[in-house]
Amino acid sequence: MIYVTGDLHGERAQIKTYIEALSAGDILLIAGDFGLPWWPRQTARHFKDDKLLKLLSEAPFTTCYVDGNHENFDMLKKFPLEEKWGSMVQNVHGIFHLMRGELYTIEGHKVFTFGGATSTDQEYRTPRISWWPQEVCSEEERAHAIKTLEACNWAVDYVITHTAPLQFKPVYAHTLLGRDMPCLTANFLSEICPKLSYKRWFFGHFHDDTSHDGLKARLIYDDIIPLEGNE
Ligand SMILES: [Fe+2]
Repeated sequence: MIYVTGDLHGERAQIKTYIEALSAGDILLIAGDFGLPWWPRQTARHFKDDKLLKLLSEAPFTTCYVDGNHENFDMLKKFPLEEKWGSMVQNVHGIFHLMRGELYTIEGHKVFTFGGATSTDQEYRTPRISWWPQEVCSEEERAHAIKTLEACNWAVDYVITHTAPLQFKPVYAHTLLGRDMPCLTANFLSEICPKLSYKRWFFGHFHDDTSHDGLKARLIYDDIIPLEGNE
């Protein structure tokens, strides 16, 4: 079975929940803000990250994630690329980073992924310590996504992103609490959304669980739900 869940933020308690909920052979897709590894190697706290990554990589299920805005992108870029599910992933100690603008065929399902978002709490963060400019998609990543979608005639089964197209505002507006910041990634997703055929679009970032059948959209956070069967 393939399951989807939301922002992990490197939380040990949430990893324990995954281990209780999932069975051997399952695949877990996380909709951004994985948050591991976070602490640089020269700090004592990187040991905590290593332990959590080991816990996940040794679990009998496979963990994959799209990147969010709370990732240490300088550390992430050092992990090797490899081919998996017909596209490119980064292997992060046996956990797979699903990259921006890729289309994976996972157990027969075409899954398009595009991570990243603008941090709404940037003013409280320190560049290259707790905030990285790579959180926002580049022109190259956007062009790659368009090329990928053109190659499949804009028809996929599922979409996993961190932030959401602006068309999905009815799904997440209640979470904004006055922090509605402009986001280049959301703007790009808004451009591709009307052209794209999909069964369900899962996104995280807004830290709540809300579904919208009309928009075929699912904001996901704590819930761990099957990829299929929500349409
Ligand atoms: Fe988050």
